Amino acid sequence: MSYPYQIKSLEAYKEAYKKSVDDPEAFWGAIAENFLWRKKWDKVLNWNFKEPKIEWFAGGKLNITENCIDRHLATMGDKPAIIWEPNNPEERVRTVTYNRLHKRVCQFAQVLINNGVKKGDRVCIYMGMIPELAYAVLGCARIGAIHSVIFGGFSAQSIADRLEDAKAAFIVTCDGAYRGAKDIPLKSVIDDALVGNKTVKRVIVYTRTRTPVAMLKGRDVWWEDEMEHAETQIEKDGVVSFPAVEMDAEDPLFILYTSGSTGKPKGVVHTIGGYMVWTNYTFVNIFQYQPGQVHFCTADIGWITGHSYIVYGPLSAGATSLMFEGIPTYPDAGRFWDITDKHKVDILYTAPTAIRSLMGFGADPLKGKNLSSLKVLGTVGEPINEEAWHWYDENIGRKRSPIVDTWWQTETGGTLISNLAGVTPAIPSWATLPMPGVQPILVDEQGKEVTEKDEHGIIKGNLCIKAPWPGILRTTYGDHERCRTNYFATYENLYFTGDGALKDANGNYRITGRVDDVLNVSGHRIGTAEVENAINMHTGVVESAVVGYPHDIKGQGIYAYVICSQHESEEQTRKDILQTVTRVIGAIAKPDKIQFVSGLPKTRSGKIMRRVLRKIAEGEMQNLGDTSTLLDPGVVDEIKNGRV
Ligand code: WT7
Repeated sequence: MSYPYQIKSLEAYKEAYKKSVDDPEAFWGAIAENFLWRKKWDKVLNWNFKEPKIEWFAGGKLNITENCIDRHLATMGDKPAIIWEPNNPEERVRTVTYNRLHKRVCQFAQVLINNGVKKGDRVCIYMGMIPELAYAVLGCARIGAIHSVIFGGFSAQSIADRLEDAKAAFIVTCDGAYRGAKDIPLKSVIDDALVGNKTVKRVIVYTRTRTPVAMLKGRDVWWEDEMEHAETQIEKDGVVSFPAVEMDAEDPLFILYTSGSTGKPKGVVHTIGGYMVWTNYTFVNIFQYQPGQVHFCTADIGWITGHSYIVYGPLSAGATSLMFEGIPTYPDAGRFWDITDKHKVDILYTAPTAIRSLMGFGADPLKGKNLSSLKVLGTVGEPINEEAWHWYDENIGRKRSPIVDTWWQTETGGTLISNLAGVTPAIPSWATLPMPGVQPILVDEQGKEVTEKDEHGIIKGNLCIKAPWPGILRTTYGDHERCRTNYFATYENLYFTGDGALKDANGNYRITGRVDDVLNVSGHRIGTAEVENAINMHTGVVESAVVGYPHDIKGQGIYAYVICSQHESEEQTRKDILQTVTRVIGAIAKPDKIQFVSGLPKTRSGKIMRRVLRKIAEGEMQNLGDTSTLLDPGVVDEIKNGRV
């Protein structure tokens, strides 16, 4: 594979950027020529942010799996597409070549057909990090079914809500998943999610941990049996193949649920053509991928990072993608470095929270680790503090591997702002420059562009984007109006990211964090309203307010102020609340701190003054800002005194 669109110098970046803004259609049309289309598009871009309506490569016909697999077979069939590193380092590594990937994806596509899945149907995938998860995702794409992967940390209730929202009739899961020292009983969580469910027709279960599972006749089938049967069906002269279904560029590829400021997660919808071009283009340029390199993205495929930079970006580029089943601290805190040496990893892409946590183990886990294969390091998911950046640079990159700080979101499909490894300059804790095609703008609360600079020449505002890039979300599943109000209505004719940012005199951006009621806990996005809803479901709770506070490792921690009607003991109630949140959302949303209060600071119109609660949670007791509109200022002192 060669990448004629790979940017090799700062000048080339500037040139590409200028072209992409001056004539986006010519620019992206030329890039899209590098992919496999059954039929070329009629129009590169149609758009307005008002509705919004965004179409890239409209009229184009393709199948993304032909781009991720088939087109590589002739030249790279025996090259590794996926290297799978198991949770237990003693277990056998699996190397999945492009040929093998092709075979498995074809088999699974047939399995889906055999089980009644049709183009456009939604398939929910709830699995651990095993190659079969990639087969499931790509199998869906091969037949034009819409996958919706749910991260293994979400509870039965969360799954039930998502199944209902997506109107999904099919599930692919595992008996269980290994994560560190734990076995997570995935199928049993699915069974709980399906109590009372009348729409799910089929559950396909892969055996990973061989934990006992309830297999319901007529509903549940074993992956292994289905795959074997499919193989005999589609094998011809020793070749197993399933013809990819021809799709429109603007047909949905997947739904991925993510949290916002309301209590209910939104199903972000990405479509095939634009998403493919965007993930590939950003992958090739940001990481400066060279053929043969091993790319290790440590995210879970349950999040957008895994979709874009374990599966679609790397595979569409014919890369070798390393997939890791376990966690960074198992069996010890040297695991990432062992994996790096074992597989000669060239590119390591991880989250600041993981870096901070590994930093906390000191130098010991790094003893005897070579790490000389590393060429590029990346971070994603939250702002990286300078201390963590330098630790990563010195101890892991040994000061010779550029670090890319990639800013993006579930909604953006791929990275929007990042330096290009070794090509454009890195600045610690700055995401730096926009990718070609991305036009950021900083606005004030009224949506007016901020131009005023501080004494260092820095502009500060809410980060918006002026025009669509190929990977932008198209809608929120089943509710287009929600997409409009969430992203396109805050400021006229702009996509609003929900983040605040700084811009320096050279046009570099630094993301300062969310400006809405969304938290970023260990790189996981959690809406405060969702956590409040979950807490309020506990019988003893009258009302609650949830805010974030700075946390050394997680980036942000969850701080909950809770009013209870009766107390058993505070300790007991606290445990019950944690259990409730685990049930309703999942363990990832458990508050780090719970403070019981008798009232919340409210304005006369009944609005909670979150600013005050946030300051107290942060430990800022003096400058709470204007509290003159508070109904009962006395409650603030009580809350200050009871801070936990
Ligand atoms: C939010 C999106 C993008 C994949 C993982 C998270 C924050 C993401 C960075 C970065 C500072 C970042 C933003 C964004 N974020 N990357 N490099 N620097 N902040 O995806 O769950 O959709 O969350 O993560 O606040 O809005 P997500």
